[in-house]
Amino acid sequence: MAISGHSFLYMKREIPFHFHFHLAYTRFLPPDSSSVNSFEQRSCESGGRGIRNIMEKLRVKSFLALAVFLCIQCENQVMGQSLDPDSPYSGHQTEYTRPAADLDLRLDEPILQPNPLGGPEQVFLTFGDNTGTAITLSWSSNKTIQPLVWYSKESKKYDLSAAGDAPKRYKYEDYTSGLLHHVTLTNLEYSTKYYYKIGSSDRQFLTFYGDFTTPPAPGPNTPIKFTLVGDLGQTYSSNKTLSHMIKSGGQFLLNMGDFSYADCYQPRWDTWGRMMTPYSSKVPVIFTYGNHEIEYDETADERTPFISATQRFSTPWKSSHSEGPLFYSVNIGPVHIISLNSYVSLAKYTPQYEWLWVYSSLLERFLSGFDFFVVNVLLLADLRRVDRSVTPWVIIITHTPWYNTYDAHYLEGEVMRNGVEYFARKYHVDAIFSGHVHSYERFKRLYYYEQDDCAPMYVTIGDGGNREGPATEFQIDPAPSYTAYREPSFGHGTLEIFNSTTAVFKWHRNQDSESVTADGVYLSNVHSRAERCVRAHEPLQPSYRLSSRIASG
Ligand SMILES: [Fe+2]
Repeated sequence: MAISGHSFLYMKREIPFHFHFHLAYTRFLPPDSSSVNSFEQRSCESGGRGIRNIMEKLRVKSFLALAVFLCIQCENQVMGQSLDPDSPYSGHQTEYTRPAADLDLRLDEPILQPNPLGGPEQVFLTFGDNTGTAITLSWSSNKTIQPLVWYSKESKKYDLSAAGDAPKRYKYEDYTSGLLHHVTLTNLEYSTKYYYKIGSSDRQFLTFYGDFTTPPAPGPNTPIKFTLVGDLGQTYSSNKTLSHMIKSGGQFLLNMGDFSYADCYQPRWDTWGRMMTPYSSKVPVIFTYGNHEIEYDETADERTPFISATQRFSTPWKSSHSEGPLFYSVNIGPVHIISLNSYVSLAKYTPQYEWLWVYSSLLERFLSGFDFFVVNVLLLADLRRVDRSVTPWVIIITHTPWYNTYDAHYLEGEVMRNGVEYFARKYHVDAIFSGHVHSYERFKRLYYYEQDDCAPMYVTIGDGGNREGPATEFQIDPAPSYTAYREPSFGHGTLEIFNSTTAVFKWHRNQDSESVTADGVYLSNVHSRAERCVRAHEPLQPSYRLSSRIASG
């Protein structure tokens, strides 16, 4: 794929403003570790020479405090800058010539071939509890073998073992799945690499070998890095995205749903599992389901949604007090992650609603009696349990975006947004990641379509590369002021949390066979600066707010 001249210029200028922090930090490193380029140095000039001079006179402890302050300024600077067509944060597309819809991987591709002996394949790691001390291994096989996992902290020792329930198959029309196994390893140590083998101790040819590293202990200043992807599918573009994800080096994956695009053709679930195995057998996944996982089997008069996906994958819903496997939360290092399901009702008294919200106490109701929303209810049950001194960061992942300026799926997330947005701001949710729209879009921190530094940042990252192709049409064009950046290309994201106050999000475009960092922003933790957040205004009637914004936007 040819790269236009504009794109070449763009690549040269891709270092974003958030490297203010990086530049400042490198000033305290040995000279040989300072590798900032000229663009970073130029960008730092806007940070103020006076600030730099002050910083050079401070001790490291004071420097860290200043660095956090600078990061907040960086974020504000990015959020508040004017629209500049030459800026990577301008809210304008680049001229990169992007591919259209791609084909699914051919079924004879080597990566999609089944285990010829019927042994373990499609290995997929998820969290076994919501504290990071248990990991669940799921896999498929076509041999009736005991679901056992041997594991150890030393390579090839395998002195520990765990067993699961008897494997099950599921039927879907004329398809019968392989034997689906789930085994949870418990009482694992934090930040520890474990080696495992699954299958059979005596029949080595049926054994799969792998390793993974457990999450760090919960704590406010534990650094951690996530990879993010949505709507991945199993095309040649999907495979490129996957290879870029591996290089990004995230410790854990946040998957925003629409995994395989099997769309009821069940063998495509098996090929997707095989494509994913080099990654998903090593990197535990936190995910939410999308509409392509619903898959009603109408010929069998089947009305149970997510029947295939819930058989294949496991979620830590019990330990997060959820009502079922479709919505849950986990604590990982410094972050509490809530997985909401866009296709399970959030209407009053439904299970997801009752998990997410609970009635406040009578006293709380009395004290907040003038608050339109709270008097009618509610505090976030899950958020109420979050100990922000341990996990200062809170993230929501869900499939359908609450904010969207593309033509595809425009306003589909309005019901959930109207139901949850008030509480997302009230309880200092830092970011909300979604998929569904097959392109990339990052919004400023928003509350009811207005910029609000105490509200979550919204990112749509449904650009994994599935066969339906990128969303290229816009419902709102040119981009509105509340969009920070959007681009109809394939790619993936990374979220790196440094400590209790500072994180950076980056979007990596698939530029032909390369992964190019094309957008990003520093994030300052909302809860750590909550004293500066005034109480949110009560949401007016949603229809009024929405119609007024559309009329003006
Ligand atoms: Fe979707």
